[in-house]
Amino acid sequence: MTSSLATVSYIGATILFILSLGGLSNPETARRGNVFGIIGMTIAVLATVFGPRVTPAGYGWIIGAMAIGATIGLFAAKKVQMTQMPELVALMHSLVGLAACLVGFASYVDTSIEFTGAEKSIHEMEIYIGILIGAITFSGSVIAFGKLSGKIGGKPMLLPGRHWINLIGLLIVIWYGREFLNAHSIADGMVPLLVMTVVSLLFGIHMVMAIGGADMPVVVSMLNSYSGWAAAATGFMLSNDLLIVVGALVGSSGAILSYIMCRAMNRNFISVIAGGFGTGGGAVAAKGDGEPVGEVTPISAVDTAELLREAKNVIIVPGYGMAVAQAQHTVFEITQHLREKGVNVRFGIHPVAGRMPGHMNVLLAEAKVPYDIVMEMDEINEDFPDTDVSMVIGANDIVNPAAQEDPTSPIAGMPVLEVWKAKTSIVMKRSMASGYAGVDNPLFYKDNNRMLFGDAKKMLDEVLVALKS
Ligand code: TAP
Repeated sequence: MTSSLATVSYIGATILFILSLGGLSNPETARRGNVFGIIGMTIAVLATVFGPRVTPAGYGWIIGAMAIGATIGLFAAKKVQMTQMPELVALMHSLVGLAACLVGFASYVDTSIEFTGAEKSIHEMEIYIGILIGAITFSGSVIAFGKLSGKIGGKPMLLPGRHWINLIGLLIVIWYGREFLNAHSIADGMVPLLVMTVVSLLFGIHMVMAIGGADMPVVVSMLNSYSGWAAAATGFMLSNDLLIVVGALVGSSGAILSYIMCRAMNRNFISVIAGGFGTGGGAVAAKGDGEPVGEVTPISAVDTAELLREAKNVIIVPGYGMAVAQAQHTVFEITQHLREKGVNVRFGIHPVAGRMPGHMNVLLAEAKVPYDIVMEMDEINEDFPDTDVSMVIGANDIVNPAAQEDPTSPIAGMPVLEVWKAKTSIVMKRSMASGYAGVDNPLFYKDNNRMLFGDAKKMLDEVLVALKS
C-alpha cells in the first residue's frame, strides 16, 4: 500500500470513529455507532499492517500477535458476565498504559532512526511523557480492576501527608526529566527513565487506592481518558497520525465523561483525585452486614402486584442488583403487562446506577424496553410526588435520601432519585446490606416504604405470575 493510500485510509477511519462516538451518545443510534467503529477499526488495522512502514518480514509477528490477542478477546467476551464488564474495561485500560510504556522503552533503545538537535529533544520528551502517562494508567487501572472486582477493599487508603507524597513524586519526575534530556548516551538516560517509571507506577497505585467507593465511576472514566492520552503519546512516539487522533478522541471523550460523572455526583474533579469520598468521613457507614437499624415493613410479591395493578403512575428505578439478577427481561414483561392495562410505567435512570456509565440503559435496551419511557434522573425527579408506586429494583446508593437529608453523610450532596416522594415506594433487594458506597439507607425505614426481600429476578417472576393471575 502506498503512503498516500494509507493516509486516505487513516482519514476515512478517523471520520468513522467520530461518527461512531456520535452514534454511541444515544441508545437509539448506539448500534449504528458500533458498526461505524468496527468498520473504522478494520480499515485502520489493514492500512497499518499493509502500510508503508511494515515490511513483509514483520507479517509473521503481526499475525501471531493478532491471533493471540483475538483469542484472548474472544474468550473474555464469551466468559465475562455483564456485571464484570467494568472490571474488564479497567483491565483493558491497563493494557493501553502498558503498551505505551513498552513502546516508549522500545523507541528509546531503537537506534535505527537518528534524531539530532531539537528533533532529538522533542522525541525524548515524547518518550518521557508517554511512559509517564502509560505507567500511571497501567498501575492505576490494575488497582481499579482490583477494587471493582472486590479483590481490593473499596475503603480508600488515605496516607498521612498524601498530598506531600504526590508533590515530592512530581518534583522527582521533573528533576529526572531534566537528567534524561541531558543524558549523553542511552545507558545514561535509562536510569532517569526507570526511576520516573517506578515513581509513576507508585503514583498510579497511590492515586486510585485513595479513592473512596462512591467515587469509582469518576475514576473509571478518568482512567479511560488517561488510556486515550497514553495512546496519543504512543502515536507521537511512533509518528502515527491515526493513533494520535484516536488517542485524543478517547482522551477527550473520557475527560468529558468524567466531568459529566462529577456533575452527576455533585463532586469537583480535584476533590475526587484528592480522594476519600464514600468513606464514612462524616457519619459512621453501615457495615453492610445485614443488621437492620430500626423498623422496616416487608411486603410480599402478591401484595406488590396488587399495588401495581391499582396504580396509575409507576416509576421503576433499576440499579446494580437488577444487573446481578439479570432481571431486565422480567422487568420488561411486567412493564408490558401494566402498560396494556393502562398504567403509565416509566423508568428513572441515575447517571451512576450500576457499575459503568450507561449500564442500566444497555440492560433495558437488551430487554427491548422502549427508549421513550426510559428517563434520565433530571427528567423524572420532579414527577415522584405524582407517582403511586416507585419500584426500586436492586438499587441502593442512588435512592438514598441521606444524600439530601443528612449533611454528615459520606454521600451528602450527591443527587439521588427521590423515590420516597411517591405514595408508596417498594425496594427490592435480598437483605438490609448497604450498596457500593457502604452507606446505610434511611429509605428502608420510611413509613411509606415497603421491602420486597429476595433475588430481584425471583421476586419479579412471582410478581408477574400474581399480576397475570
Ligand atoms: P448499589 O448502591 O451498589 O446497590 C445495589 C443493591 O443491589 C445492593 O444493596 C444489593 O443489596 C442489591 N442486590 C445485589 N444483588 C441483588 C440481587 N440478585 N437481587 C436483588 N438485589 C440485589 O447500586 P446502585 O444503587 O445501582 O448504585 C451504584 C453504586 O455503584 C454507586 O455508589 C456508584 O457510585 C457506584 N459505582 C458506579 C459506577 C458507574 S459508572 N455506574 C462505577 C463504579 C461504582 P442486597 O445485597 O441486600 O441484595
